[in-house]
Amino acid sequence: MLPCVRWLQPLLALLSSVLLSSWGQNCPTNCQCPDPHTVDCSGRGLTRLPDSIPLDVRRLLLSDNWIPWIPSDFLVLYSDLVYLDLRNNSLSRIEPGTLSTSSRLVFLDLGSNNLTEIPSGTFGESRSLIKLRLGNNPYLSMVSEDAFMGLTSLRELELERNALSSLDVGVLGQLPSLRVVRLEGNPWVCNCNFAKLFGWLMENRQKLPTESLLCKAWGQGGGVGCDVRSEGAELMRCRDVHVTGISEEAEVTESPACGKALLV
Ligand SMILES: *[C@@H]1O[C@H](CO)[C@@H](O)[C@H](O)[C@H]1NC(C)=O
Ligand SMILES: *[C@@H]1O[C@H](CO)[C@@H](O)[C@H](O)[C@H]1NC(C)=O
Repeated sequence: MLPCVRWLQPLLALLSSVLLSSWGQNCPTNCQCPDPHTVDCSGRGLTRLPDSIPLDVRRLLLSDNWIPWIPSDFLVLYSDLVYLDLRNNSLSRIEPGTLSTSSRLVFLDLGSNNLTEIPSGTFGESRSLIKLRLGNNPYLSMVSEDAFMGLTSLRELELERNALSSLDVGVLGQLPSLRVVRLEGNPWVCNCNFAKLFGWLMENRQKLPTESLLCKAWGQGGGVGCDVRSEGAELMRCRDVHVTGISEEAEVTESPACGKALLV
């Protein structure tokens, strides 16, 4: 054994105890740090991001606060971040580039916020991202065609109960690892875009956890319920849904422009 190793060991022990105790002191005010890599500030009535979050944080829990924005360079410092929960805050916008440096991020929850659109490049190339929750943003009406470009590991995408009347099918087509997509509870309009989306969903039925999607036809009080998961359906199985209940099957025709288009 080299002589220096004998004093190296106690030095390392001393160093790690200093680090451990400083981790306890570094926990942001009013937050909890149950382990060296978790900072839990959920439900603290925060109106902005907490100061002095330890740089080696891996799990950052900020749900149930009133945080209205994140500076675009916020995540640059936290390169170890794996899990970021911002559910139920007041975010109305994610600045482009905010998430482009989060190369280790696996889980991101932006559900129950006030987002209005997901522009292209929002997530940069977060190649580790596996689960992305964007549901329950009641004003979210626009998802750019290449909003999720580069998310090659993404398995679960939640877009339910937003304000989407339309979604370009390419948005889903560019996600090679997608296993689960939630789209229910949006005000879909029965048009060419929906027909294409529906066609994709028919081919990827197993990825949709809910039974049916409802689209609204122009000028009608009701909507058209499309049972995406019905077995053996070759054409869209859609039924008129009126306020009073479900009536006959709607007429389904193919059109050169939309493929299997939907006419009511
Ligand atoms: C959202 O956060 C607010 C503020 O902390 C809380 O009062 C409310 O119960 C939360 N809503 C949900 C659905 O958890
Ligand atoms: C959410 O956005 C809407 C419309 O953009 C706005 O009227 C409302 O005040 C916002 N609410 C919060 C809590 O930020």
